[in-house]
Amino acid sequence: MHLVEALSEVLEATRGGMSVDHSYRVLTSRLLLRPLTEHDLEIVLRWRRHEHIRKWFQDDLTIDPKQQLTWYERYRQREDDMMFVAVVLDENKPIGAGSLYRINKLSRTAEFGRVFIGEADAQGMGYGEEIVRGITDFGIEMLSLRWIELFVKITNTNAIRTYTNCGYVHDRKYRPSNSRDLGSIVRMIRTAPPRWKGER
Ligand SMILES: CC(C)(COP(=O)(O)OP(=O)(O)OC[C@H]1O[C@@H](n2cnc3c(N)ncnc32)[C@H](O)[C@@H]1OP(=O)(O)O)[C@@H](O)C(=O)NCCC(=O)NCCS
Repeated sequence: MHLVEALSEVLEATRGGMSVDHSYRVLTSRLLLRPLTEHDLEIVLRWRRHEHIRKWFQDDLTIDPKQQLTWYERYRQREDDMMFVAVVLDENKPIGAGSLYRINKLSRTAEFGRVFIGEADAQGMGYGEEIVRGITDFGIEMLSLRWIELFVKITNTNAIRTYTNCGYVHDRKYRPSNSRDLGSIVRMIRTAPPRWKGER
């Protein structure tokens, strides 16, 4: 079992300014999942460029630092997007990331994604599962989301296994809007337990 802990108010827009206060924290048994900052951009770009990571993303073109900075400036202003950097508590070492985005406060739904273990020596040690479970539980428990969806390439068996272990279920009814993705992209969904839907 791991502990999810929100240490501060989530997504509170700064007064008078355009940027959003992404000051959320999630604590799991071995990781601190903290907000992405500008200081993380270099390492995140390095991680994203690894072939074993890049190939699993739909926009798998190589990103350059300028594009990344443009993305980050937009991201800072968004209330519906939270990116976490995973830091190993014992070593104070960042090893990967994960995100919740398209957070819809009205429908209480979101999408999970942008997850990867960037450091080679941290792969296959259960950290991926800890990140997915930590962020998912945070979304359901702290943001009161009713469900979280994600999209993954059907050939990405490591990721599908990780998501399945964290309670995500294959949505077999899903048909991608883009016919190019038919048969290659899988939708998985994690539904909140009844108490989080306000049911008894
Ligand atoms: C998917 C990913 C985040 C998983 O993280 P991880 O820390 O390496 O995985 P974990 O150690 O938590 O293992 C989770 C499950 O996946 C399996 N797994 C992970 N890496 C594996 C590997 N290289 N080979 C075989 N199985 C693997 C584990 O066995 C475990 O399943 P099990 O407990 O049922 O045996 C990581 O592989 C990664 O960064 N992949 C590239 C980026 C990516 O694909 N992101 C998702 C895009 S949708």
